[in-house]
Amino acid sequence: MGLITIVYVSVSQHTMTDDELKSLLDECRAFNSPNDITGMLLYRDGFFIQALEGEASVVEPLYEGIRKDPRHVSVLTVYKNPIETRSFTNWAMGFNKFTAEDGKGIEGFTDFLDKPDVDFFVQHPGRAAVLLNSFRERTYF
Ligand SMILES: Cc1cc2nc3c(=O)[nH]c(=O)nc-3n(C[C@H](O)[C@H](O)[C@H](O)COP(=O)(O)O)c2cc1C
Repeated sequence: MGLITIVYVSVSQHTMTDDELKSLLDECRAFNSPNDITGMLLYRDGFFIQALEGEASVVEPLYEGIRKDPRHVSVLTVYKNPIETRSFTNWAMGFNKFTAEDGKGIEGFTDFLDKPDVDFFVQHPGRAAVLLNSFRERTYF
């Protein structure tokens, strides 16, 4: 077994308030910290994108559970790859809200910013990585 990363996109069941996002994050971190899971969760207008990193034996069952979570639907895997090193070492789960501004530096992002949809990242997995990595150094709460 080794380290893997899974990136997926999904649509929230309803528009999430900051309080709901905060309690989701508390829940994530309570599990992720002791289980050596790191990553980044981004949210915008009912749209989630998340990177999970850790041992395959932990990440895979966690992702199966996340997929079934009723707080979101249309969960689509963008990629699942073995990795040598983590990208989000600092975060048991970093969190940010992303805005149209954040995507401006990313090539080919305009279509997505005009009309967010989950298929965009499935078709352009590299852009999911660029977006997530642009938040590597900061967390919103
Ligand atoms: C968008 C989203 C991201 C989530 N990310 C994580 C996570 O990183 N870690 C985690 O433990 N749970 C995460 N969850 C919560 C899980 O889906 C699930 O509620 C939690 O693992 C508890 O599952 P259990 O009740 O089966 O033990 C996430 C849920 C959603 C909706």
